Amino acid sequence: MLVFIGFSCCEDPGGSMFEDVDLTDIVYDPVNYEPEIPFGFPALEVPEDNPLTLDGIDLGRHLFYDPVLSLDSTMSCSSCHLPELHFQDNQATSLGVDGINGNRSSMSLVNVGFSYNGLFWDGRVQTLEAQALLPVEDEVELHNTWPNVIDKLKQNPFYQEKFRKAFGIENTSEITKELAAKAIASFERIIITGHKAKYNRVQAGLGFFSPEEAKGLDLFEDTSNIESDSLDAECSHCHVAPLFTTNFYENNGLDSVGDNLSLFLDKGRGAFLNDPAQNGKFKVPTLYNVGFTAPYMHDGRMEDLEEVLHHYNSGGKNSINKNANIRPLELNEEKIQALITFMNTLVDTSYLENEMLQNPF
Ligand code: HEC
Ligand code: HEC
Repeated sequence: MLVFIGFSCCEDPGGSMFEDVDLTDIVYDPVNYEPEIPFGFPALEVPEDNPLTLDGIDLGRHLFYDPVLSLDSTMSCSSCHLPELHFQDNQATSLGVDGINGNRSSMSLVNVGFSYNGLFWDGRVQTLEAQALLPVEDEVELHNTWPNVIDKLKQNPFYQEKFRKAFGIENTSEITKELAAKAIASFERIIITGHKAKYNRVQAGLGFFSPEEAKGLDLFEDTSNIESDSLDAECSHCHVAPLFTTNFYENNGLDSVGDNLSLFLDKGRGAFLNDPAQNGKFKVPTLYNVGFTAPYMHDGRMEDLEEVLHHYNSGGKNSINKNANIRPLELNEEKIQALITFMNTLVDTSYLENEMLQNPF
């Protein structure tokens, strides 16, 4: 039962009036949750002040899918991070609530909990908790204000109960954007894929690669035992198993700026660090389920994996900070197909059956 405290009223900076509600009648009994980690993955690091609990994850799931976060109640995080599309949107760049296009492509959130070296294409935010605060007020995303969102959540008995159960708060006055962000971060941490990927199953001794997959792996990983040629595709310098990313920021040769690094249209990592030497560098994306997340690259400029592979095969476009592993590869079509076939061993769609990840509305 919810108890209203007398007439104690409060006024927030936005000016709306609402009553604080005592929540201590609702049972707070947090149950820790340990997600299953795919074979070979490192342990999932969780901040001490935001342990994974069933109620925290469930609150985060509701907030992630709830359009209440957007200015006109039409969009949620899931509008650009759709579960059925592996938590991205298959658009080159994403449309926000006002129909304004951002200049970057939505990122797949699969295995984002393992991304410890910065978030976004330029790594400008360190933690999922800090990241989750941003889309609500971003004008090309949800374009709302947190006081607005928190007002609505505080007045909603459904969320009052969810915040109590997730965080043990005693009164609705304790509902804050920081708690909302913690819950969303917990939800994102369990978006884990790879358990059923053929790659991981083979590593665990539960299957075998086909000859074409093995050839693709060989090219990808540079194990250099393909008969009669020693060429490799250099991929694994940056897309390192088991997460298929180093989480570093690299220039993989998308633009031709020569030695004038100020010419990059999107300066990426360099703009964030205010260091021109880092211009044109972007986060190395994971390759899990990559076959489903076209178009590719930070601005969605490539239509399909064939185009990506032809890009790498050509050695990319030149600029002085292009990574040395981006060089002409001289792969024939058969090898290009083998690489694509290998990347398809990183497909695992079974995680989408996990009810804890699904849209609750
Ligand atoms: C309008 C579309 C849109 C909406 C709505 C949106 N995002 Fe995003 N998201 C993006 C884009 C685009 C990027 C990449 C932006 C960049 O690099 O500057 C991104 C990046 C991210 C990342 C970084 C992933 C990584 O691997 O580094 C996370 C986490 C994320 N979003 C979570 C959220 C959450 C949580 C919400 C809701 C509170 C949300 N997004 C709402 C489009 C959106
Ligand atoms: C020097 C590091 C580096 C090497 C080597 C490299 N990549 Fe990448 N890869 C990146 C970076 C960085 C991006 C994102 C670039 C951007 O969007 O600006 C990327 C993007 C991709 C993408 C698009 C993913 C998406 O979600 O948009 C695919 C697919 C890919 N790489 C596959 C490969 C393959 C296959 C190879 C080997 C032929 C390879 N990469 C070699 C760094 C590298």
